[in-house]
Amino acid sequence: TMPGLGQCFNLMDFEAVARRVMKKTAWAYYSSGADDEMTLRENHSAFHKIWFRPRVLVDVKNVDFSTTMLGTKVSIPFYVTATALGKLGHPEGEVVLTKGAHKHNVLQMIPTLASCSLDEIIDARMAPQTQWMQLYVNSNREITKRIVQHAEKRGIKGLFITVDAPQLGRREKDMRSKFDDGGSNVQASGGEDVDRSQGAARAISSFIDPSLQWSDLPWFKSITNMPIILKGVQRVEDVIKAIQYGCQGVVLSNHGGRQLDFARSGIEVLAEVTPELRRLGLQNQIEIYIDGGIRRATDIIKALCLGAKGVGIGRPFLYAMSAYGVDGVDKAMQLLKDEMEMNMRLIGCTSVDQLTPDMVDTRALSMH
Ligand code: FNR
Repeated sequence: TMPGLGQCFNLMDFEAVARRVMKKTAWAYYSSGADDEMTLRENHSAFHKIWFRPRVLVDVKNVDFSTTMLGTKVSIPFYVTATALGKLGHPEGEVVLTKGAHKHNVLQMIPTLASCSLDEIIDARMAPQTQWMQLYVNSNREITKRIVQHAEKRGIKGLFITVDAPQLGRREKDMRSKFDDGGSNVQASGGEDVDRSQGAARAISSFIDPSLQWSDLPWFKSITNMPIILKGVQRVEDVIKAIQYGCQGVVLSNHGGRQLDFARSGIEVLAEVTPELRRLGLQNQIEIYIDGGIRRATDIIKALCLGAKGVGIGRPFLYAMSAYGVDGVDKAMQLLKDEMEMNMRLIGCTSVDQLTPDMVDTRALSMH
């Protein structure tokens, strides 16, 4: 029998339950990484190389970890990142994440390749909830333009253009299992026929434009007033370019280890990016986010200490949703809030602006 929600004490516990209860094909799609899954594992283990330098004898009775992301006030510095095909895990798909996020005043990034339609996910929003949108750019720019302008009209507050996926990575676990999307509603491909013989990821991604380049960015700025954020940046040179092209943010991310194997973890790239931006006086020109492998509030705290404005979390919420629906997502977010409050106290910080580089020891991170 399946363990109850009371048996889930951390985010990893949801993964263990989901693995047992999910359909094999769905598990393969959600859990897989590219090639040898070196980056997938590194995303998590990179956090093990960062240690705390807590302050003692600080009044930590009241702790407040609320912050803003792209101008939206949030209760805690993480957001639900975009993950495709929510109906593989739960019959109601992405709206389950919308409802869970609403309970906790958490932002949700809606994927281009959602199982629910964009409008369904927006309709599930409850004030004062805010949503962002992740964009895969179609070779047919008219389709992309329509999606972007519709999203803006419906109140989406940020456009996250995925830049680490000119071609989908090889996720062999996924490729081995025959894809059946269960009648989900993937509209963004423009209704093209899909080849289902190569796993879920390959089947849905053939429309993505591999020729997308920096010089395309002004076009996006011409069709929308939403802030533009590049998702999947992996080196400081590209962060600086993003600033020059007028982007409001970047997500240092390797797509959850699903694209380039041996890409570095987001936290590792962050440790490269922040000092260089400070050296150039550019640190206030752009908001830096990271995702990949974040499973504990201590991971969130480490990212903020190293200069991130916030972090994205993907699989844990998919697993919580697949195993327990909205209640699971709610519980996973509550666990993170509880961990956050305790760990902020234990390191001697009462607000996010106190999370500074001196709070962490990164010597092990730079030593390899
Ligand atoms: C993703 N991710 C992703 N990213 C994106 O830009 N567009 C997409 O359609 C998807 N789809 C997707 C599906 C699944 C099943 C996963 C696990 C991930 C990547 C995602 O936004 C994020 O970068 C990672 O999930 C973060 O890593 P963790 O939190 O899953 O370890």
